[in-house]
Amino acid sequence: MSNKMWGGRFAESPDAIMEEINVSIDVDRHLYAQDIAASKAHAAMLAAQGIITASDAKNIAKGLDTILSEIRKGDFTFKRALEDIHMNVESRLAELIGPAAGRLHTARSRNDQVATDFRLYVRDVVDEVDAGLAAFQRALVERALDHADTVMPGFTHLQTAQPVTFGHHLLAYVEMAARDRGRFRDARKRLNESPLGAAALAGTSFPIDRVATAKALGFERPMANSLDAVSDRDFVLEVLSAAAIAAVHLSRFAEEIVIWTSPLVGLVRLSDKFTTGSSIMPQKRNPDAAELVRAKTGRVIGALNALLIVMKGLPLAYQKDMQEDKQGAMEAFAALSLAIRAMTGMVRDLVPDEARMRAAAGEGYATATDLADWLVRALKMPFREAHHVTGRIVAKAAADGLALHEMTLPALQAVEPRITDEALRVLTVDSSVRSRTSFGGTAPKNVLAQAKSWLKRLDKEAAED
Ligand code: ARG
Repeated sequence: MSNKMWGGRFAESPDAIMEEINVSIDVDRHLYAQDIAASKAHAAMLAAQGIITASDAKNIAKGLDTILSEIRKGDFTFKRALEDIHMNVESRLAELIGPAAGRLHTARSRNDQVATDFRLYVRDVVDEVDAGLAAFQRALVERALDHADTVMPGFTHLQTAQPVTFGHHLLAYVEMAARDRGRFRDARKRLNESPLGAAALAGTSFPIDRVATAKALGFERPMANSLDAVSDRDFVLEVLSAAAIAAVHLSRFAEEIVIWTSPLVGLVRLSDKFTTGSSIMPQKRNPDAAELVRAKTGRVIGALNALLIVMKGLPLAYQKDMQEDKQGAMEAFAALSLAIRAMTGMVRDLVPDEARMRAAAGEGYATATDLADWLVRALKMPFREAHHVTGRIVAKAAADGLALHEMTLPALQAVEPRITDEALRVLTVDSSVRSRTSFGGTAPKNVLAQAKSWLKRLDKEAAED
C-alpha cells in the first residue's frame, strides 16, 4: 500500500530500506509538544482568516489536545510507517475527528512545519541552558564568597606562577559562564522568528496571517523570505556553537578538578557524592563525573561539526539532508545540560585543602615577582634589572634548599646590599595576594567585592524572571 499521507501518485510501497533511511519519528517524536502547539496556532489562524470553518478549527484543536495528552501519558503509538511526528499527529487526528483533520495542512508544508517545531524546541533548550548556567554561576559565587582569601597557587604552563585566591579562580568561571549566557541570548534573539506559513518554499496563495501565528507561538515576527524560512538552520548552528564554547569551558574546569583531586596535587577533595571507587583498587576515589564532563564536550563539538558539514553543500530550499539536524543537536543539548548540572554539583561539593593550598602557593618561588616589584618600588630599579637580581636570589635559595620567605636578610643582601627587611614581608603568600589590588586582580578585597556584586546581579535577575 502506498503512503496514505502523500502516496497519491505512488502505486507501490517503499522498499524496507527506503523506509528505514527515511524514517525520523524516533528522533522527531521529541518535537511533539512543539508540533501540536504550532498546529493549533495554524488552525486557529486558518479559521480567523475564513480559510477553514470555526467548527473544523474547534474540532482540530480538541483533537490535538487529546493527542497531546495521549503522548504525555504514553498512550500514543508512534508508527514508523508514518515517517515523522507531523504525519503521526495528523493521522491520529484523522482517526479522532475524521475528514476535518485533512484541512489542517492547508497553506503549510512539513518544510515550514519542521522548521517551526525545531525553532521552538531550540528556544526551549536555550532557556533551560540559561537557567542551568545561572545556577552554576550562583554556586561558584557562593563558594567564592567563602574563599575570597583562601590562597592557592596560580599556574601558567601548569608551573607554579604566583599566589592567587581560590575565590578569584572560581570567579573566572563565572565570567566565562556570563559570556556563554550572552551568546545563547544573542542566538535566541535571532532564532525567534517564525517560518510558519512559508509553506513548501514559495509561500501560499491562501490569505494567511503569518503575524498572527508568529505571535501565538511567541515569535517576534514571521521570517521575511519563504525560501530562507524553510532552508535556514543557522539557529541550530548558532546554539550549537554557543554550546560548544560553553562545553569547552566546563571541560577546562573539569580538567582542573581532575588535576586538583589527584593525590599528587591534593588541592581539592570531592565527597563520595561525586566520586566513584575502583573494582580492584580499594583506595581509589575517581573523579568520574569531572572526566565525563570533559568527555561530553566531544559530543557537542561533534554535533556542531556534523551539522556544518550537512549544510555546507545544500542548495535552496529544503533538502532532506536537513532531517539530520536533530539527533546530534538534541544529544548535544542533553549532554551540555547534564554537564552543567554535574559541574554545579561538584562546585557545591568540593572542599579545598586550605593548608595544602597555602603551602603549595609558596612553593616554586611563587612570590619572586613580588620581590622584583619591591626592588622596583623601593629602590627605583628598572624592572628588567630587578628581574635579574631576583633571579639570582631565587638561584641562591634553590641552592640552599630554602623557600624565598625563609631566606635571611644577610643572604638577600649578599646579592643586593640595598635590600631591607621590608622586602622580607612581601615574600609571604598573603602579602602577595593582598597586594594585587589592580582592577580585576586577585586581592581578597577585590574578590569579595566581585563576588558580592555577582550575587546581587544574580539575585536581581532571578527576581525579574
Ligand atoms: N522529517 C522531516 C525533517 O525532519 C520533515 C520535513 C519533511 N519534508 C519533506 N518534504 N519530506 O526534516
